[in-house]
Amino acid sequence: MSASNTSLIIRGLGSYTPSRILTNDEISKFVDTSDEWILTRSGISERRIAAKDEACSDMAVKAAHEAIKMANITPEDIDLLIVATMTPDTITPSTACLVQNKLGLRQIPSFDVGAACTGFIYILGIGGDMLKANSYRNALLIGAEKLSSILDWQDRSTCVLFGDGAGAAVLSRSDSTPGRGILGTYMEADGSDATILNMPGGGSNCPATIDSVNDRMHYLKMAGREVFKAAVSVMDKSTREILERFNLSADDISCIIPHQANLRIIDLLSTRLGIKKDKFFVNLDRYGNTSAASVPLALDEAFRNGRIKSGDYVLLMAFGAGLTWATSLIKWQ
Ligand code: ACO
Repeated sequence: MSASNTSLIIRGLGSYTPSRILTNDEISKFVDTSDEWILTRSGISERRIAAKDEACSDMAVKAAHEAIKMANITPEDIDLLIVATMTPDTITPSTACLVQNKLGLRQIPSFDVGAACTGFIYILGIGGDMLKANSYRNALLIGAEKLSSILDWQDRSTCVLFGDGAGAAVLSRSDSTPGRGILGTYMEADGSDATILNMPGGGSNCPATIDSVNDRMHYLKMAGREVFKAAVSVMDKSTREILERFNLSADDISCIIPHQANLRIIDLLSTRLGIKKDKFFVNLDRYGNTSAASVPLALDEAFRNGRIKSGDYVLLMAFGAGLTWATSLIKWQ
């Protein structure tokens, strides 16, 4: 088969969310907020919280099992593993290495990518390029987060927005589905706005000390309004660019899987892009923002709910800390 007949298809999808549901009302018992405020400002009603002894890698493994099952392959068939996360079990080794061991994969390349909420689309791009450049057949791509471990549960402006979970995909090289699968993935970043969404402590610039802990440096900090404006602007721009690249109009897209950060961001994008709201798949009401897990979690649910059918154009879009942003266009196989 010539290289032009080779396509990249999502052969399996899976997701996992912890069983513990934390409602807005429960949060309003320990910070000064209300169900009404959280719902109207973000669209979130509840989120899932991992158990104390449930690590990011544990959630990743559960999502991966489902994706491998749906792909109808065995762990032996996986040639590459990439995990997108900003809440790794440990800074080193990577969560991917822990997942590789827990899944019993062969001694394949396994590494983490840190692109915050954009992480899953980044690894879709990186994984796709590695499949094409090597003799690999199947890549296991996982977005997994235990955000509850880095949230400041005294800061009402952030703790109400996030949740825990994992989503996984098996991306495979295929010689029998020309013109189908991932048509293109585009990634960008702009580090000049790095401080509007960050965790200042814990890295080499600010290792853990008594002072850093007392100063609450090991929690996620966010300038909400600035992030909101940047998110709308970059996702608007990158969506227009990817549609133009493929000479498609908004009407051609059957389903959009946006990063599940805030319903108001999605509503604004729908208005600005002239794309009907019902084309945007939304599950943030039940999970909140699960960062790198958000897009695969939503993609898995959309597919299993019959929102995505063979031949559909599906658009993935995300933004996150960095700032990073990315889009991916799929013609469903
Ligand atoms: N409950 C009640 N009041 C609150 C809460 C809360 N949970 N949080 C903030 N407020 C108050 C503020 O203190 C402020 O009060 P003040 O006017 O007396 O100062 C008021 O509400 C308005 O605050 P704003 O921040 O201006 O509220 P806004 O309407 O912008 O909504 C929000 C805040 C929801 C955070 C919004 O800005 C947003 O969604 N931003 C984007 C966040 C996002 O997408 N983050 C994910 C990034 S992806 C990643 O990589 C992790």
